[in-house]
Amino acid sequence: MNILLTGGAGYIGSHTCVALIEAGFTPVILDNFSNSQPAVLQRLAQITGQVIACETGNVLDTPWVEDVLRRHGIAAVLHFAGDKAVGESVAQPLKYYRNNIGGAVSLLEAMQAAGCRTLVFSSSATVYGDPASVPITEDFPRRHTNPYGHTKLVIEDMLAAMQTTEPSWRLGVLRYFNPVGAHPSGLIGEDPSGIPNNLMPFVAQVAIGKRPFLNVYGNDYPTPDGTGVRDYIHVQDLAEGHVAALQALLDQGKSFTVNLGTGRGNSVLEVVKAFEQASGRPIPCQMAPRRAGDVAQCYADPALAKTLLGWQAQHTLADMCLDTWRWQSSNPDGYK
Ligand code: WQD
Repeated sequence: MNILLTGGAGYIGSHTCVALIEAGFTPVILDNFSNSQPAVLQRLAQITGQVIACETGNVLDTPWVEDVLRRHGIAAVLHFAGDKAVGESVAQPLKYYRNNIGGAVSLLEAMQAAGCRTLVFSSSATVYGDPASVPITEDFPRRHTNPYGHTKLVIEDMLAAMQTTEPSWRLGVLRYFNPVGAHPSGLIGEDPSGIPNNLMPFVAQVAIGKRPFLNVYGNDYPTPDGTGVRDYIHVQDLAEGHVAALQALLDQGKSFTVNLGTGRGNSVLEVVKAFEQASGRPIPCQMAPRRAGDVAQCYADPALAKTLLGWQAQHTLADMCLDTWRWQSSNPDGYK
């Protein structure tokens, strides 16, 4: 069964390609390589022993996307393509509204025209904004705190509207918490361009000596050690979550929205300590002011995904750090 992955050459998409092949599916990648590297394709061939079909273009090109869906006989779509830097979204909101919301509208129109109505959407815990409490369940109120999170929230609402109008749509909305880690081969992993916004890739670059120290954004939060607490989830678990979501849509045909998290929260300092243990390298830290838009704590109640999908995260924080270290130390300049 052929499955289209928009943004499939990216961090989450590439790991999901591997999981799909292991589950007996045939992934087809659609990517414009605006935030990913063609070198990923060779790495995926090394890992899977298969050449994965790749269509290079923009998801905003609706007629072209419809042609891709028809030519490959696509049975379902996993939609990863989109911009995802919170800070950039504040600086360039229109880029985010055009690429993320416009891209989703274009994809849905192409799917409608091609008669493909099974979609898994990459959403984010950012739709919860600053939660009133933790752990977070799927019925928590949604509120955006930045244009990036707003695009995820709007796309979720678009999908709900499509479902109402055309009940035949099978829609799986996955709210990721904090994806980290890499495939155990060390051949694929997170490869942010420029200075990493996110904690784990920044820590990894300090460990290999690319950055002198880590700025810890705030140590006066109402958390056990004063630093921000997040639900870090291994990208391998996230990839398996997509396979489980796809299988549930195909088997039961019922739409759902679930959190993909571990249900555990770890602080910045706990991540630093775990990474030092995994890498054997010191991670010098400097306390810095809080980062605008950050929340104190954000972690999932993952019970609904277990009930509906039979899925549960398996990897520990130590696994996440070990696999990140293997990827980063083997690829100090990422895919370049
Ligand atoms: C984690 C913690 C920081 C960097 C964002 C998006 C979310 C998703 C994941 C896309 C926080 C602290 C970080 C640093 C630090 N992205 N930190 N020094 O902000 O929870 O989530 O990325 O889907 O949608 O909102 O992740 O890794 O940026 O931060 O102290 O150099 O690490 O303050 O407490 P975040 P993050």
